[in-house]
Amino acid sequence: YISDCTDDSRHTEGKHSLYGAHNFVVISGKTELGLFVDTPSRATFDVGYTEHGVMTISVASGAFKLYTITPSDEEKPAESVVKQFRRLIGMSYIAPKWAFGYGQSRWGYRDEKDIREVARRHRENHIPLDAIYLDIDYMDHYKDFTVGGEAFPDLKGLACEMRGLGIHLVPIIDAGIKKEEGYPVYEEGRDKGFFCKDEDGEDYEFGVWPGISCLPDVLDEKAAEWFGDKYRALLDLGIDGFWNDMNEPAMFYSKKNLKRVAGELAEMSTQELGLEGFFKFRELATSLSNNEEDYKSFYHNYRGKRYRHDEVHNLYGFYMTKAAAEGIAGYMLEQPGGAERYRKDPPLLFSRASYIGLHRYAGIWQGDNRSWWSQLKLSVCMTASLNMCGFLYTGADIGGFGDDTTEDLLIRWLSFAVFTPLMRNHSEKWSREQEVYRFGSAEIMRDLIRLRYRLIPWLYETYVKACREGLMMFKPLGFEYPRDEVARRTEDQLLVGDGVMIAPVCEQNATGRVVYLPEPMKMLRIRGAEVVSEEPADAGHRYVEMPLGDVCLFVKEGSDFRLGEVYESVAELERAEGMAAGTKD
Ligand code: GLC
Repeated sequence: YISDCTDDSRHTEGKHSLYGAHNFVVISGKTELGLFVDTPSRATFDVGYTEHGVMTISVASGAFKLYTITPSDEEKPAESVVKQFRRLIGMSYIAPKWAFGYGQSRWGYRDEKDIREVARRHRENHIPLDAIYLDIDYMDHYKDFTVGGEAFPDLKGLACEMRGLGIHLVPIIDAGIKKEEGYPVYEEGRDKGFFCKDEDGEDYEFGVWPGISCLPDVLDEKAAEWFGDKYRALLDLGIDGFWNDMNEPAMFYSKKNLKRVAGELAEMSTQELGLEGFFKFRELATSLSNNEEDYKSFYHNYRGKRYRHDEVHNLYGFYMTKAAAEGIAGYMLEQPGGAERYRKDPPLLFSRASYIGLHRYAGIWQGDNRSWWSQLKLSVCMTASLNMCGFLYTGADIGGFGDDTTEDLLIRWLSFAVFTPLMRNHSEKWSREQEVYRFGSAEIMRDLIRLRYRLIPWLYETYVKACREGLMMFKPLGFEYPRDEVARRTEDQLLVGDGVMIAPVCEQNATGRVVYLPEPMKMLRIRGAEVVSEEPADAGHRYVEMPLGDVCLFVKEGSDFRLGEVYESVAELERAEGMAAGTKD
């Protein structure tokens, strides 16, 4: 595993790095040992790869702190290591309750009309919905903190109209700032010297969505404050949620490399290409993006000292999101009743790139996955491992971001995602449209989303408790049953909170699956958002039929699990809760 924040949309087994750099491992053998390698640049974890049975950790820049954590509780050693680590790294950000509602997103919603259509079709079909995400097309030519003219003539009005329907708009913010005269964010950043610099002290320029762009130097305190304050432009329009993207930082190309590669390609195109030549030719264009040499050619200013980007690469997403969180908090606190409102209903914020510690400011989503069954399974495992590092507000793009989803995959994915804090259906513009109302089995999908709303009161309580007490909301079985060898090896079942176990189906055409119960539990079968059966289940393996749309969960004796009512938005749910509390008073 190479810990090196990377923008990569093919999460295949051969890959070593993804968006986050989370250098925390728990080694479980005769005893448990936690290791946290705190280093701002690349770290490599060679786990028995070069030599079987030997683990080697190497750190690119040489600057690191190593924390070793031994268990304080022999009953549950892995969990106790995680608890200590979590105490060390601080309390997790708590997302607002509405962020547990269902969200619909697509890179490809072009204008206000598209957004209204998404809202209308959910409401008309009684598919609960709390958020519609705005991808890059809401901006004016992909310029951060602007709103695109004709396509989005009145975002404030639209946000207000949507709020009337119980729906929040959540825009994306990218790391790169378009280089364009007359664009105030660019001009200010340039004039104040807030962009990353090249070797000669000039603003470093690279290509990303808007074309040639500059990178805010969020490691610099003043630049970070400036960047964080820019979120005000959208907060003023009634926006209360953001997703920070392309902050590994992702770079399509650098100006310098583009020129060199274009020259080489032009020259090669006049030659006959043999084996090596052909592969080199093919590789040249792809080598332009997120290029290692480019990461060595620009600089940050951190507390008055200059750092080459690659030495601090893994911190960029962290500092961008910290800047956003602090800017947003500053704005909120200035509002009437601000502190109270901020505590009760903080804005939603999540990021793509991350480093240990970012969990104090925001959640993260699991990046550009694909409509593959293996990626559903990956998300099950990833959700638990992210929890170890305090990233409790997380979720994957339901249905898959890239490639074409299938109806059964979407149903199975929703069946797992009813439990994940972020429950968002998101896809890329070249893929099949995957809003649930587009499918023949929309009713099954709708019922799964309804189930989600019945789960929210229990889920949110479990989540907030885990945030406050530094617990894992999703745990692998081995953490709870460390002496049970089968539980320790079970990776595709998770414990949610203290008393519930889930066993998602992650295989196409399967009509059920083998489930392992480490102890006797009660099995609940939910269909059509209703519990249709409840039966005791013995410890051990059993095959459980799970037709599409059925969610089976396993409840431990004494668990606080409960189901609430169906609502079409969290606002509706909270109104009902408020009324119930009033009646009780
Ligand atoms: C990145 C994001 C993805 C988004 C796209 C366009 O790939 O990860 O979620 O849709 O950019 O903004």
